[in-house]
Amino acid sequence: MSELMKGLKRTGRVTSFNKEDVGKEITIMGWVNKRRDLGGVIFIDVRDVSGILQVVFKVEIDSDLFKKAETLRNEYVIAIKGLVEKRDEETINPNLKTGYIEVVASELRVLSAAKTSPIDMSNDSKTNELLRLKHRYLDLRREPMQDILKLRHKVCMITREFFNKNEFYEIETPMMTKSTPEGARDYLVPSRVNQGSFYALPQSPQIFKQLLMLSGMDKYMQIVRCFRDEDLRANRQPEFTQIDLEMSFVDVDDVIEVNERYIKDLFKKIADYEITLPINRMTYKEAMERFGSDKPDTRFGLELVDLSNVLKDSKFKVFSGTIKNGGSVRAINAKGCGEMFSRRDIDSLGEYAKGIGSKGMAWIKVEENGLKSAITKFLSEEEIDNILKTMEAKTGDLICFIADSNNKVFSILGNLRLEIAKRTKLLNDKKGFELLWITEFPLLDYDEENKRYIATHHPFTSPMDEDLSKMDTQPDKVRAKAYDLVLNGEELGGGSIRIYDPEVQKKMFSLLGFSEEDTNDRFGFLIEALKYGTPPHGGIAYGLDRIVMSLAGTDNIKDVIAFPKIQNASCPLTEAPSKVDAKQLRELGIAVIDD
Ligand code: AMO
Ligand code: AMP
Repeated sequence: MSELMKGLKRTGRVTSFNKEDVGKEITIMGWVNKRRDLGGVIFIDVRDVSGILQVVFKVEIDSDLFKKAETLRNEYVIAIKGLVEKRDEETINPNLKTGYIEVVASELRVLSAAKTSPIDMSNDSKTNELLRLKHRYLDLRREPMQDILKLRHKVCMITREFFNKNEFYEIETPMMTKSTPEGARDYLVPSRVNQGSFYALPQSPQIFKQLLMLSGMDKYMQIVRCFRDEDLRANRQPEFTQIDLEMSFVDVDDVIEVNERYIKDLFKKIADYEITLPINRMTYKEAMERFGSDKPDTRFGLELVDLSNVLKDSKFKVFSGTIKNGGSVRAINAKGCGEMFSRRDIDSLGEYAKGIGSKGMAWIKVEENGLKSAITKFLSEEEIDNILKTMEAKTGDLICFIADSNNKVFSILGNLRLEIAKRTKLLNDKKGFELLWITEFPLLDYDEENKRYIATHHPFTSPMDEDLSKMDTQPDKVRAKAYDLVLNGEELGGGSIRIYDPEVQKKMFSLLGFSEEDTNDRFGFLIEALKYGTPPHGGIAYGLDRIVMSLAGTDNIKDVIAFPKIQNASCPLTEAPSKVDAKQLRELGIAVIDD
């Protein structure tokens, strides 16, 4: 123990004291949150992880001690011995847990002085995020940040407790491993003793959790770090945490059932929010057709409507031509936006659509005395009537059309719908959590750029039984036993029932364009393992960070991670990644190429 701490023992955290402790001598330790000098009296707010407690120094009681208190500055770390007293009536602060008491100091020790903080330490700090991250240890002293870390801790505790009660075992899986294909680039770790060979950090524990089912562990869970070298977004970090699970002898409904109970338990305990079970389910096909997204925000309408039948023979070639080429024309009725949006607003919405890949955005504004539009002159009266009827258009509405290949129409209108909701503040008064399972994802996606199939979820996902026979003939029509849990338009988690037949697994790899040699090289151990008695199994993984984001009400993933990375995947505090010295590289057999 340091000299300064000699003879001192903390009695408790500052908010562990209350009116019942009046008259007791206590010792507290913490940071100077604020100092107020009122002539012969100094008040110090002492802060620790639990909150704040007021300490008083009076010159009339001890002038030496008072002088020492005058030297205190914000963020000094101090120890105070003193007597708990009731506050005078007029100084009571009912907003503080300790607002009825104060400590009259009899001893003060400065355990550590502090330079002036480079960041604004107030709860609604005005300091920019980069500077806060550079001094994250200071930023994390702020109450809103500590509240989130505590919330995150609570989520982990409730999660472990729930899955423990439901007979899951928490088992750790390797961090230095082989590539797990989850669709991102790997972070690689060079091997010193096997020069030229690399470990990959796991994108997920996917293969290991499946192997644990083969091992007979029956139900597994883990709160686990995953690594993906992909572009950062507001809800993505290169290292993030999954709540990962796997179960044996199950099908889709079994996995969903236990997970619904988990989510209900979590939201009840953390947010006192009642989720009604069962959670709604929607197929991928329906989600795309109605909302243009596989993670639809169903808190508002603005649904997509297919107008291809109405417009397939139109003289307006932008529409009929697209339909003839296998695409479609779909539209959104932005209710009331005809009235709300000026011509400039509509043009700006069109620009937004172009910015996300649209060739244009046709529109019709329904006004009291007729229609306003640049395209009605190309359409027949019957077509216009049918459009208005199909779109259930009323005076004041704005209909926005997109014509393109189906995939593009979905993605453009799906985003346009969110943009309209944002611009009209449609969600401003929406509270609560809208949960939705998306099911029956396609097994494969066609990657136009590389002219090959990729796994929509991952290559271990099982086809639906009724579509198994289409794997050879119409692979793009095969649906998977995959499911995502969506909350307010965000993907919280995703999982699937796995392939457990080695032959089907081989076929899957071949559909994905892996040669037999490639398959053996990368996944031979898994295919071999499947031959030794494999229980049917499946599972799911949630983004823990995303769950905490929604419960904390933030849309910035960095807020819920103690030491997050910024845009270029670097850490402003440690300045990682950093160069290493030549000797270290030589030992690893690595040369850096400067181009
Ligand atoms: P998936 O790739 O869908 O599935 O990931 C599961 C969940 O992890 C979260 N997530 C992320 N969170 C923050 N930053 C990221 N970069 C990031 N990437 C993913 C999301 C996502 O829903 N092994 C499978 C699961 C399974 O099949 O059981 C998997 O990893 O919330
Ligand atoms: P154009 O004949 O190209 O001048 O287009 C006439 C109208 O149709 C304009 O309002 C365009 O924004 C719109 N438009 C063009 N291409 C598309 C498209 N692919 N989808 C929807 N509207 C389009």
